[in-house]
Amino acid sequence: MRRLLIVLGFALAMIIAANPRAFAQLPPAGPPTAAGGPFALTAADGSAVTDRTYRGKWLMIYFGYTHCPDVCPTTLSEVAAALERLGPRADRVQPLFITLDPRRDTPAVLADYVTAFDRRTVGLTGTPQQIAAAARAYQVFYERVDGDDGDYLIDHSSYLYVVNPDGGFVTAWPSDRTGEELARDLEGLMKVQ
Ligand code: NI
Repeated sequence: MRRLLIVLGFALAMIIAANPRAFAQLPPAGPPTAAGGPFALTAADGSAVTDRTYRGKWLMIYFGYTHCPDVCPTTLSEVAAALERLGPRADRVQPLFITLDPRRDTPAVLADYVTAFDRRTVGLTGTPQQIAAAARAYQVFYERVDGDDGDYLIDHSSYLYVVNPDGGFVTAWPSDRTGEELARDLEGLMKVQ
């Protein structure tokens, strides 16, 4: 039995070594639990930003892309509704939309898109390597899916990551929460810390 496990383990290691990308892109089984970490990206005005840029704010980070047909716009609408509900307390919150499609989502395209939902939302892009590093830190699964018409979609996991003002990861919420629920839960977190 033990021998068999060793053989199987070795075989699996060889498969992963032969094709690490395929395994790195496997979607996580559930919500990320220990996500978060440093990132280096580009803001709408072309300036370089990192996770440290936003210390002092409660971050609501979402990974998506502007050509997304449904989930991204819905999520951004709910985030905007949450900010509205929080009123002046929204000053303590910074929503960040990190694109998974840096090829099409230039800083200008991103800025136009996110501010249409709420002017306080900040869109971030970067090189494909920077985006991949940020996505890896937050355990985001994403994959380009080519259509027949030469167009493409990006399949992606969908969580709202909450980071506290000290830069610590707090939680990942499924993105199907309403603005009302988001506001209530954020308020709860902000009261405790
Ligand atoms: Ni999307």
